[in-house]
Amino acid sequence: MAKLLTVQGGKPLEGSVHVRGAKNLVPKAMVAALLGSEPSQLRNVPEIKDVEIVTNLLQIHGVKVDADPATGDLTLDPRDTYSAAHSEIDAYAGDSRIPILFCGPLMHQNGEAFIPDLGGCRIGDRPINYHLEVLRNFGAVVDKTPTGIHISAPRGLKGAKLTLPFPSVGATEQVLLTAVLAEGITELDNAAVEPEIHDLIAILQQMGAIITVFTDRVIRIEGVERLSGYRHRAIPDRNESASWASAALVTQGDIYVKGAAQRDLTAFLNTYRKIGGEFSVDDEGIRFWHAGHPLKPLVLETDVHPGFMTDWQQPLVVALTQAHGVSIVHETVYENRFGFTEALERMGASIQLHRECLGSSPCRFGQRNFLHSAVISGPVELKGAEINVPDLRGGFSHLIAALAAKGTSTVTGIEVINRGYEHFMDKLVGLGADVEMSER
Ligand code: EPU
Repeated sequence: MAKLLTVQGGKPLEGSVHVRGAKNLVPKAMVAALLGSEPSQLRNVPEIKDVEIVTNLLQIHGVKVDADPATGDLTLDPRDTYSAAHSEIDAYAGDSRIPILFCGPLMHQNGEAFIPDLGGCRIGDRPINYHLEVLRNFGAVVDKTPTGIHISAPRGLKGAKLTLPFPSVGATEQVLLTAVLAEGITELDNAAVEPEIHDLIAILQQMGAIITVFTDRVIRIEGVERLSGYRHRAIPDRNESASWASAALVTQGDIYVKGAAQRDLTAFLNTYRKIGGEFSVDDEGIRFWHAGHPLKPLVLETDVHPGFMTDWQQPLVVALTQAHGVSIVHETVYENRFGFTEALERMGASIQLHRECLGSSPCRFGQRNFLHSAVISGPVELKGAEINVPDLRGGFSHLIAALAAKGTSTVTGIEVINRGYEHFMDKLVGLGADVEMSER
């Protein structure tokens, strides 16, 4: 039976939510534990679907995982790993893209790895060509099979000089997780430098890795022979924090996000202030609220860190439907991250999508037929609608639009949101949302 969420809109979200470790760090930190010869301990782990998927994948490879969801403490013991059956990997990989990051650690531990066809949010093609290319450069042999990809390292893995065509987060993580135990030195040019990458580097350094980050997107890794375990507290989820901040603006509410870290949200907070959103920072988190003044439109471009993150774009677009004037958003990280606006239009929003790079410098998607710029005119009155959640951030955006809208909305596919938003329904109810879950 499918779950159906009924939302009565029009009530401001008010109260407090607690955000724990980052969805885009925790699963990678769990994979890093595979490289150790001793157990690792990770704290601040959220209870989300992606953590469950990686737990299962680690367990079928022989890693003992001991979790306490209430405290968020996780112990990972990799001392007895082995190759898992392909059918088992396929069965547990679910919708996640994390399995691709098992390649380096599994080749170091077992000499081979198998990667099933990958899932993840449908926000573009999401190829893995950078991953496979860097693995080949380390000396891996890549065999594509009808069910997935088999990767082996018959002559071991050796450090390499690498350049990414785009500062991909996943491919940078692939390089880090492979290079730390590869023989010799790896130099990666055009690397991603997101806060989650720095947190992964901190973890690997604790394990015994030698990694230097230079100021110009160059990362140098000196391979070592053995890594131990780590004890680490995951950085908070800046995407979840930014999502609740947008929810406060969209619903004219007031939300204290316990755990939100200003340091990792600089670009978001600048934009929030320019639109007219208010925030105040204390030692434990950040309070976000709508001050009652009309919101202001803006011209915005998503970018890799330290720019305005693509994951913040979708919830903020909902807030821009309430701004007085015309806003332009140019998406430069994913070619297809505006699909969610179709439902917003049905709810009364005025959003035109364009193939051109609007409002700022040309990006690699210009002239390539991708609808990757949006022109948003506001303010509009949003009204309730029937919605099917398309992807994680798009789904959150639809939900906050429904919470701000006049009338009733019905939402299917809500399970997708559990991939990245911990205790999502409880948090909504705690903020005073008028929501009811049923089966149909
Ligand atoms: N790309 C390629 N080839 C590759 C890898 C990436 O062309 O082999 C392209 C992608 O298609 C995309 C761009 O490079 O256009 C950037 O992708 P990146 O590799 O940086 O993304 P990712 O590692 O797959 C992570 C997060 C995303 C987040 C991006 C950007 C995880 C599990 N996912 O994805 O998070 O948007 O980095 O910061 O860490 C989300 O949380 O909703 C989400 C999608």
